[in-house]
Amino acid sequence: MASDSRPIGVFDSGIGGLTILRELLRELPTERFIYFGDDANCPYGPRPEHEVRALALAAARWLVARDVKAIVVACNSASVSAREVLRAAFPEIPIVVVVPAVKPAAALTRSGKIILAATARAINDRFTHSLIDTFASGVQVISVACPGLVELVEAGILTGPEPEAVLRNYLGPALNAGADVVVLGCTHFPALREPVERVAGPTVAVIDSGAAVARQTRHVLASRELLAATPPSVPVEFWTSGDPARFARVASLVLAHPVTARHAMTDVQW
Ligand code: DGL
Repeated sequence: MASDSRPIGVFDSGIGGLTILRELLRELPTERFIYFGDDANCPYGPRPEHEVRALALAAARWLVARDVKAIVVACNSASVSAREVLRAAFPEIPIVVVVPAVKPAAALTRSGKIILAATARAINDRFTHSLIDTFASGVQVISVACPGLVELVEAGILTGPEPEAVLRNYLGPALNAGADVVVLGCTHFPALREPVERVAGPTVAVIDSGAAVARQTRHVLASRELLAATPPSVPVEFWTSGDPARFARVASLVLAHPVTARHAMTDVQW
């Protein structure tokens, strides 16, 4: 069978996509990855669609210039905003996007109420609305935009009273109303799984899309005979448009192993 040792490009507005990367590393141990965190432009969530599109296109162009064989858009906000323009711009490159786990949540709920925690960009996007209409029509989806949470993750504040207080404020009303599944619809949020689970309590399921994205990436690569055959000596290169020292510090927390990062800017065409 054919194999392809070129890297897979992964990008996010910052640290969040690392929650997807850790699943990719688990699912695809023979692959090499180039991770780009666009921290200079983080957060994407409060931005309008056309800005997130421009930023996502610039990140993808940067990765394509590094000869990636596929791109994983490890950001819900970029996935809903830019998946069509990215596929049109790079028709020869498979592009895998993140979709919030609304479908499994709708299958899981017993109370008929689920929380979709995401960015304002993802919550307001028509793709998310159609996902809910298609897969959760009989279920009440309580969408909660969570401004400030992405910034906590970027600052490396992943546990303790501060994220717990913010999460209690955002999720409390819907939990009190009987929601029994929390969908983490922003890739930054699985980094806060511990405080989310503490706030949600033991009877509430907390789910994200990381493992599903990793399986989908394997499927897409396999179907095009693009899988790599042997484990690389350096599995991931980390790049950020922000401060590499800060990125490395927080990335090491999220991935639970030491990370070094380099700086790069993309050429955003607004
Ligand atoms: N992690 C990204 C997402 O999944 C972006 C969050 C942000 O930059 O606002 O939406």
